Amino acid sequence: MNNFLDLCRAAIGAPYVITNEADMVPYLTDWRRRFTGRAQAILRPGSAEEVAALVKLCSEARVPVVPQGGNTGLVLGSVPDDSGREVVLSLGRMNRIRAVDVINNTMTVDAGCILAQIQNAAAEAGRLFPLSLGAEGSCTIGGNLSTNAGGTGVLRYGNTRELCLGLEVVTPQGEIWNGLRGLRKDNTGYDLRDLFIGAEGTLGIITGAVIKLFPQPKAQLTALAAMQTTDNALALLTLAQQRCGATLTGFELMSQFCLELVAKHYPQMQLPFPQPYPQYVLLELSDSESEEHAMETLESLITSALEEDVIQDAVVAGSIAQSRALWDLREHITLAQADEGKNIKHDVSVPISRIRDFIRETDAALAEQFPGIRMVTFGHLGDGNLHYNVSPPVGVPADEFINRQHEVNQVVHDSVNSYNGSISAEHGLGALKREEVKQYKSDVEMRLMRTIKQALDPLQLMNPGKVL
Ligand code: FAD
Ligand code: MLT
Ligand code: ZN
Repeated sequence: MNNFLDLCRAAIGAPYVITNEADMVPYLTDWRRRFTGRAQAILRPGSAEEVAALVKLCSEARVPVVPQGGNTGLVLGSVPDDSGREVVLSLGRMNRIRAVDVINNTMTVDAGCILAQIQNAAAEAGRLFPLSLGAEGSCTIGGNLSTNAGGTGVLRYGNTRELCLGLEVVTPQGEIWNGLRGLRKDNTGYDLRDLFIGAEGTLGIITGAVIKLFPQPKAQLTALAAMQTTDNALALLTLAQQRCGATLTGFELMSQFCLELVAKHYPQMQLPFPQPYPQYVLLELSDSESEEHAMETLESLITSALEEDVIQDAVVAGSIAQSRALWDLREHITLAQADEGKNIKHDVSVPISRIRDFIRETDAALAEQFPGIRMVTFGHLGDGNLHYNVSPPVGVPADEFINRQHEVNQVVHDSVNSYNGSISAEHGLGALKREEVKQYKSDVEMRLMRTIKQALDPLQLMNPGKVL
């Protein structure tokens, strides 16, 4: 009889200790279906106190813990290894909006709240929670904080880190750190909150958070612009930042091939142009003044961009439905690429001023070494963050191509490094990039990170094999 699991059942209730193989499956495979792990059990606590009780039991029994939110992570950070020794601790039951303070412009939430649930709760309170990403219907705020998720609003509002004022964390020793302060200024020692944000579950388990709310814009306008090159896209970014300032809240690059994949796998989603163009930019303005002011700004930007031959065509969404349709084109690229088959993803960032050279040089290097590959390049251009994804040449079996993943990664990440960029802009390292990152981080940086890990989690039970 497994005494450890019996103690877990006593702590949170037998129904929330899942050991049945079939019931465990959804928790053991990553979103990209690239890896399936094994676990002793899936634990589903209902409160921070229950998380603390479970972590204490895991610590006493030396059982490693894999915290899991929505399991939409893209770097194998939220699934267990294949040892069968670990437990997955799912925050899914902890989905209460604990408090909304519209005067302080804060919301206090359980870590297992789904991002869309939070966005809706903010809207109901007449506010905006601006974190937005394609997985928002299933990812959790705990996962967003643990990966310091980016998404499409970083340009204006920053990453998840910038959207958080306080955390509640269960430490690897099973203590509850209540740091749920809604203060914009609090200089009382080391910044523990920022230590846990982006730690990918390797330093503790986030059970609650105080997040920032923002005024709802009076008007949001979306436009899709068509152009010849990524140089044009960068010129449009400069023009948009000059003309729109802080009202520019989204700027997403998409190549023609990306949208060909979307049209192939989601035929109901069609481009609103009579002919294809090599590159597109989806941009969004959020205006606190009025609809008229927003439209004036946008029309002036588009007119200038057309006159200066920066773009060749553009459409402005005339309704919320049309805006949604344009965003759906963008948000379905990831899904369409997955439908097209296995591919090699890159989530890279380089200084915006170097993007042009990075794309030119790296495209050429890849084409030389891997003839016929199909580049699926899109992403958050305004943040210097590209999803520089590579699909196999037509006719080459995906598995055969994926076997060369390390060679492809080496070309791309060496190039990123030569431009002083990052090999993981927003998805984190997880297990996928744990080894690779050592090539690009200094010994000092690696030593400092290991020292922090050793100090907080000396038994190495928190999400082992991830990040470090
Ligand atoms: P999970 O996948 O469950 O976990 C992610 C990591 O956080 C794991 O290491 C896990 O151990 C840890 N973790 C989870 N919850 C906790 C907790 N409460 N305490 C401690 N550790 C925890 N990411 C972006 O940044 N930008 C994008 O634009 C974006 N778009 C996406 C689009 C699609 C279609 C998909 C499938 C994914 C996308 N992602 C994007 C990746 C993913 O959605 C994010 O990384 C997200 O933040 C993960 O949240 P989650 O709740 O699913 O976390
Ligand atoms: C996105 O921006 O759509 C995501 O980060 C997912 C991806 O990299 O495919
Ligand atoms: Zn992204």
